[in-house]
Amino acid sequence: MQLMTSCAAGAALLLLLHCCQIASIVGHESALTVVKNPDGREGGGADEETEVAVDEEDLEVVQPTEDWQTLKPGQAVPAGSHVRLNLQTGQREVRIGKEQLKYWTQEHRETEEIQSTISPDDLKWAMKKMKEELNPVRKETDRQLTDSVASKYRPLDELKRDLAQLDLLVETDVQIMKRLLDQFNSSNSTTEQRLSILLELEYLVHQVDNAQTLCSMGGLQLILEGLNSTDIRLQESSAFVLGSAVSSNPVVQVKAVESGALQTLLTVLATAQPLRVKKKVLFAVAALLRNFPYSQRHFLSHGGLQVLSELFKADGGGVLRTRIVTMLYDMISEKELISQAGLDLVLDASHEERVHQYSQVSLQGELLEKGWCSLVPQLLESTEHDYREKALRALLAMAPMCLDQYRLDSSLLGSLLSLRDQYQEMVQSEMIVGEENGYFAEIVELIHALQFKMK
Ligand SMILES: *[C@@H]1O[C@H](CO)[C@@H](O)[C@H](O)[C@H]1NC(C)=O
Ligand SMILES: *[C@@H]1O[C@H](CO)[C@@H](O)[C@H](O)[C@H]1NC(C)=O
Ligand SMILES: *[C@@H]1O[C@H](CO)[C@@H](O)[C@H](O)[C@H]1NC(C)=O
Repeated sequence: MQLMTSCAAGAALLLLLHCCQIASIVGHESALTVVKNPDGREGGGADEETEVAVDEEDLEVVQPTEDWQTLKPGQAVPAGSHVRLNLQTGQREVRIGKEQLKYWTQEHRETEEIQSTISPDDLKWAMKKMKEELNPVRKETDRQLTDSVASKYRPLDELKRDLAQLDLLVETDVQIMKRLLDQFNSSNSTTEQRLSILLELEYLVHQVDNAQTLCSMGGLQLILEGLNSTDIRLQESSAFVLGSAVSSNPVVQVKAVESGALQTLLTVLATAQPLRVKKKVLFAVAALLRNFPYSQRHFLSHGGLQVLSELFKADGGGVLRTRIVTMLYDMISEKELISQAGLDLVLDASHEERVHQYSQVSLQGELLEKGWCSLVPQLLESTEHDYREKALRALLAMAPMCLDQYRLDSSLLGSLLSLRDQYQEMVQSEMIVGEENGYFAEIVELIHALQFKMK
């Protein structure tokens, strides 16, 4: 199968680099390396040893933001910034890490307690000041503004000394994940620490490469153990990380299924109590199944629909019911789309392979067998318009296999009649306020389409 590429393959795409040390903090004992203060007035800098790091004419310091920005030749960034080389464009890119202040190198961990003395605001201000020192032209115009701001912060030199002590170095995403996983795996870590690690991982794995790196580092196994935890918060957060990691990431989907993620998820889904855990686990299951017939087949053969139907029956509120029905609808239409695509596209080998894989997913038969033709109509009893709409769409998608059962389902027939009246009435009032073709009209159309099929 095409998808069976190495987990690490994607990781090479973005080569993460150590930040350049221009305009940065160097050595533990040495002072901050900044461009010489042109007027010598600034904050008693005269008696502090400063040195010119780079020719000031050539240097433009970019202030990183949360988004990646491309660096032009000659531009520098403050130490602690996140710099990477985009191998596709050949450009260096920079952004400020949310993590920026948190990551020290191994050998300077012991200075971590200093962290509390530098607030992110202090740091931002310090960076701004450093930039100004490097851009003397702008300095005068900004002076008044910064002076008023300055009074709210500690003296720059004090900050510089603290920053110098910290010896901030850049950590790449790969290094960050390695450290997070080591901490997560350490028997010393508390549950609180593990939860915050999972939160950081969840943020990181949205990047396709990071998610793949996470599995090549053995992170998947740790996440699955987290899912198995007796602590529901760990279960919830682990499911969240797993779901985000497999979302739109075929390589990780494959790895996850190979690692037994589906069985673990289904077990948790069948046993977990709190709704919030079930929601996140369902999210992970849906992400694992999406566009991945291989896992859909596993899901069916491991009793996935059985687990979902227990969940559906037990869910009074309808939140889970709606998510389940939406998931089934997505699976049906996904398969449908693949088979329809064959009608008007030139068939290539990969398409045939996909059609073949989907043909092995006996979804329709299983839905029929497991009683979904009578379960999904129950969602129409919900009072939420959105839930009803989702139910109607799924009922239409399932109509080819369920039609006989629909026709015998007197409560479905009754629901459709009363919903039609209700929504038609609402459409009337929508028209009065001039909102034709609104949402309710759409629902009426869905009801009509279903009634038409059932005739
Ligand atoms: C756990 O913490 C103790 C001290 O609190 C330390 O001596 C020990 O090396 C730590 N163990 C691990 C596995 O990190
Ligand atoms: C977690 O720790 C165990 C030993 O304590 C080790 O065998 C395993 O490789 C570690 N896993 C990761 C992902 O670091
Ligand atoms: C989770 O627990 C089940 C049974 O309790 C076990 O079979 C499975 O191997 C566990 N998975 C992990 C990743 O620990």
